[in-house]
Amino acid sequence: MTSIDKSVPHNARVWDYWLGGKDNFDVDRRMGDSIREMFPVISDVAGHSRRFLRRAVTYLAGEAGVRQFLDIGTGLPTANNTHEVAQKIEPSSRIVYVDNDPLVLVHARALLTSSPEGVTDYVDADVHHVDEVLSGAGRTLDFDQPVAVMMLGILNFVLDDEEAGQIVAELVEAVPSGSYLAITHPTVELGGEMNVLAMEFYNKRARPRIRTRDRAQIAAFVDGLDLVEPGLISAPQWHADGAAAEVPLWAVVARKP
Ligand SMILES: C[S@@+](CC[C@H](N)C(=O)[O-])C[C@H]1O[C@@H](n2cnc3c(N)ncnc32)[C@H](O)[C@@H]1O
Repeated sequence: MTSIDKSVPHNARVWDYWLGGKDNFDVDRRMGDSIREMFPVISDVAGHSRRFLRRAVTYLAGEAGVRQFLDIGTGLPTANNTHEVAQKIEPSSRIVYVDNDPLVLVHARALLTSSPEGVTDYVDADVHHVDEVLSGAGRTLDFDQPVAVMMLGILNFVLDDEEAGQIVAELVEAVPSGSYLAITHPTVELGGEMNVLAMEFYNKRARPRIRTRDRAQIAAFVDGLDLVEPGLISAPQWHADGAAAEVPLWAVVARKP
């Protein structure tokens, strides 16, 4: 495990700051404020990503009946983590969290507990190494039964398109028919044009480096899967309770046929 570096802003901690959390350092808060000045909608994007997670897991554990979740790029624990939403619907749900940030590891071990009937585990792995993700998850998840693979705000750290497509393909290949893939991904579409300069600024000073993708590139990740209605859409509009404005974050939930 790498050690916690307080001298360079790290994504998990800056994300926590935008979400109003306390698990961040001065260097993260300064980066978070600078980005917010350049791209004011970023806090909305973070909040909507979490609310999408709650609605997506509610759908998956409820209507879709999924009992196993592989949440890659977990982030620092906050309200409505995947296991809390899933186990509220079905206490026996089994959840594996995966992240490679050392501070996430410390907090996750302490805070991501489980219902007595279910299981919550944490794997310290890099999404670039799918074999390690899958072998770690295999301690807890049965890959003969459907799994919901959650990739919320994580493919944006896989900078190479071919590699990102390969990672998604390997994960989908590893799970059986009736499994699901959920993705959120930042974009410069949907009003995200100001994110270009903000990301350039971020990438010069923070880690890991991040990128956007457009709708067609996200659609390619779920090619061959059945999209859950309403398909690939701005995150706040996916299973929205009422009218919802767009933010520059694509979201999709898809089922492996
Ligand atoms: C933007 S946060 C998203 C957190 C959460 N999924 C959400 O939607 O609120 C991205 C997370 O991905 C993690 N991450 C970044 N690169 C990673 C990698 N190569 N492997 C595993 N996790 C990574 C970061 O540490 C961070 O916790």
